[in-house]
Amino acid sequence: MRDKYCGFVNIEDVGKEVLLAGWVYRRRDHGGLVFVDLRDITGVVQIVFSPDISKQAHKMAGDIKQEYVIQIKGRVEKRPEGTENPNISTGMVEVLVKELVILNISKTLPFQLDEDEPNETVKLKYRYLDMRRPSIQEIFITRSKVYKAVRDYLVSHGFYEFETPMLTKSTPEGARDFIVPSRLNPGTFYALPQSPQLFKQILMIAGFDRYFQIVRCFRDEDLRADRQPEFTQIDMEMSFVDVEDVINISEGLIKEIYKTIKGETLKDAFPRMTYEDAINTYGTDKPDLRFGLPILDITNIFKKTDFGVIKKAIENKGIVKSIVLKGKNLSRKDLDASVDVAKQIGAEGLIWIRKEGETLQSPVVKYLKEEEKLALIERLEVKDSDVIFIMTGNRQKVNELMGRFRLYLGERYNLIDRNQFKFLWVTDFPLFEYSEEQKRYVASHHPFTASKTDIRQFNGDYESLKSKAYDLVLNGVEIGGGSIRIYRKDEQMEMFRLLKIEEEEAQEKFGFLLEALEMGAPPHGGIAFGFDRILMMLLDQDSIRDVIPFPKTQKGVCLLTDAPSRVTQKQLNELRIRVIHEKQ
Ligand code: AMO
Repeated sequence: MRDKYCGFVNIEDVGKEVLLAGWVYRRRDHGGLVFVDLRDITGVVQIVFSPDISKQAHKMAGDIKQEYVIQIKGRVEKRPEGTENPNISTGMVEVLVKELVILNISKTLPFQLDEDEPNETVKLKYRYLDMRRPSIQEIFITRSKVYKAVRDYLVSHGFYEFETPMLTKSTPEGARDFIVPSRLNPGTFYALPQSPQLFKQILMIAGFDRYFQIVRCFRDEDLRADRQPEFTQIDMEMSFVDVEDVINISEGLIKEIYKTIKGETLKDAFPRMTYEDAINTYGTDKPDLRFGLPILDITNIFKKTDFGVIKKAIENKGIVKSIVLKGKNLSRKDLDASVDVAKQIGAEGLIWIRKEGETLQSPVVKYLKEEEKLALIERLEVKDSDVIFIMTGNRQKVNELMGRFRLYLGERYNLIDRNQFKFLWVTDFPLFEYSEEQKRYVASHHPFTASKTDIRQFNGDYESLKSKAYDLVLNGVEIGGGSIRIYRKDEQMEMFRLLKIEEEEAQEKFGFLLEALEMGAPPHGGIAFGFDRILMMLLDQDSIRDVIPFPKTQKGVCLLTDAPSRVTQKQLNELRIRVIHEKQ
């Protein structure tokens, strides 16, 4: 139906006849001539209807409207001098139309494609229209290129691509499962995979050495800007490896993705930080390193303090932490606003101290000893008009709140350079973490993660154990995580014992893995990257929904198809399911 794409018509075609097909993007009537920007996946070309070239085509052009689908035959000409558009590849030429065929008409669209973004609801309901916009097409064309780059890189590094079941058993990634009833086995359910974790370990035991899969994962959790109930992982597993090997291969992959999207090569190795340092200095295991503002421990300065709040916190084994904001000349209003923000994020209070000339100003300065003031100025290197923010209390809570407060300061005082991409490996995660909800220790990554030290010599202190788990963080967002796995049955059983998972339960849930571990399982480990998250970050999008063709809303609804929806009574009967409808 065509012999050229719209976006490829250029100066070399001048004088030639072309057959094009596409959508009417814009249409302008100018003194007897009709100009149309004809659009297809490759771009836009200007076509001109003139009565001097074809009376019939010119007449028909009077009827065509935006988003009509047309086919034209015409001659490529240089645009008259002064009307060229050097910003687009077809901008030096236009096509004088000899023949026009209207292939399909279009109703007036619910929004104009070349104007401002429609609201999210309209955008997702008419995703096919939103996706016609060149800027959105660009996102999905890039997404397609990245799939290829990932496959090329991994295959050239000895990885084999696999598919693993979607109808499977619950895996322990920690979120809620989506479940699917089995008609053939009434009363039983499959779970959609939260990840292919156990299958990829089984593939290592099967001897495939290196596995990868670009795979859909399903997690029923509360949705946020960087979370979807179904999302895509680049999932990898390798045999006979330790932490360094997985990090090296993965870093190469991420650099390849970066190059595909940004066209630049990242030369330097990604920095690394232990979990402990990340928490202590940035209050989070995913620090945003695009700006400074380290969180400093100043508990020592207050060892002998008379200042009530701090004294009490230290007596209760708490800590005192500070962030110094330099050179921003905060007003009293700014300072009061900071206190409000700290309270909103859950802090009991926030102390601020500002250096003015040689002295310190603050509502609490009267409670501070001279030597405490001096120590603050010296240790924190504060200069005139710098502000020290202080929080005190329980270690974990102060770290977490200061981490969030740091992000607020970064945003509020424009300290974040949006053009930077700061990758960071976070390593040495704790093996266990205490779950307030379950009132017991749970695996911080998952229960197949190996410990840095032999867990068979466990001394009873859950919090002392470190794991061989690692995360890759980009600008404060976790884009990947993995670990070296336990590959011996006795160790895996010990892990379950420490997690207070009964032998029977372990057998019921993971019996197939336990059995496989007894039949020559090699040492192995791997990682999974959040494919959508990586695209979101590298394409500078605010939401993960922008890089997923058919995403779900915050409430887990697909506005295009209206899923989830009710099913027929016949279907329910077949599954032997009775639905209890809430009373209206
Ligand atoms: P994990 O649970 O850390 O590890 O997941 C890996 C990465 O997947 C991304 N991710 C998400 N992206 C979008 N929406 C979500 N709801 C969502 N949840 C997770 C994150 C995360 O870093 N099997 C292990 C990996 C392993 O140990 O090899 C796993 O799934 O970017």
